[in-house]
Amino acid sequence: MKDQILLVQNEALSAITATQDSRQLEEVRVAVLGKKGSLTALSSGMKDVPAAEKGAIGQALNAARQAITEALEAKQADLQEMADRAALVGIDPTLPARALAAGAIHPLTLLRERAVGILRRMGFALADGPEIEDEFHCFDALNTPADHPARNEKDTFYFDSGKLLRTHTSSVQVRSMERSTPPLRIIAPGTAYRRDEIDSTHLSAFHQLEGLYVDRDVSLPDLKGTLEAFLQELFGAGTAVRFRPHFFPFTEPSFEIDVKLEVKGQAPRWIEVAGCGMVDPAVFEAVCQSRGDRVFDPDVVTGFAFGMGLERLAMIQWGIRDIRLLIENDVRFLRQFA
Ligand code: PHE
Repeated sequence: MKDQILLVQNEALSAITATQDSRQLEEVRVAVLGKKGSLTALSSGMKDVPAAEKGAIGQALNAARQAITEALEAKQADLQEMADRAALVGIDPTLPARALAAGAIHPLTLLRERAVGILRRMGFALADGPEIEDEFHCFDALNTPADHPARNEKDTFYFDSGKLLRTHTSSVQVRSMERSTPPLRIIAPGTAYRRDEIDSTHLSAFHQLEGLYVDRDVSLPDLKGTLEAFLQELFGAGTAVRFRPHFFPFTEPSFEIDVKLEVKGQAPRWIEVAGCGMVDPAVFEAVCQSRGDRVFDPDVVTGFAFGMGLERLAMIQWGIRDIRLLIENDVRFLRQFA
């Protein structure tokens, strides 16, 4: 029996050495170790071996199986290496690689990150709210009654459910006050939607950066100082900023903010970049009702709010003449910001 085992082992090893590819190698494996393989057949002969020899024969069988298995594995590795080498024939691995076309950050993202960075250093924390809003958060709570023109079906995208695509990020003011308590200092960058005809200064989906500061004794000088400092940090220390009286239902008094755009060879122009104002007491009242408590009691707290158009800021920052360039994804345009 021992001789038979050695014979099978030697035959298997030389068959393994002789194989040319992994298909042949697999055939050898099956012929020796498979269910009907030669070594398997010898193993099943164990039951007829006299008890005294069982140990020695068993050991010989195991040794043979191990030697064959190792040879199979070694041969498989050799074959794989040969195949790898063959695959490389004709390829020059020293050729320089083709350059990858690296992407870059979109100008709107660049601007948003910078704006958010400045405001965070001033103590504002990021807040968020849904783009699909209800009328309460977008309008009612913001002192914008049902007969206000902003609620015209033609100005806003409504769903059958009565929900709508928010026309401004000011809804996040309400949501933030509903879930925290004063002092509150938040900024909320995000998308806003309007049924505007798309032209060189309008998009139907655009971006705003909302801000809200509520505490005891927040005053108009706080609003003015904060936004002036912000705009001068964004556009440069010498930047001229002007506050123009305006009307928003949810702030009183309200202002629009213009920044002086000075492009070489052009007459300077004032560009509107933001709306802002002192939070209207009616907004605090709506929040108190919605919360069911008085922590935003307008007799106790005051606040200011602002909303900026990020596309407008980007246009000023880089002298971009047409807002549509920001959404067309023309690489010749975008490459300039890389
Ligand atoms: N929500 C206003 C707009 O979209 C901007 C604004 C925000 C005005 C906050 C005042 C206070 O035009």
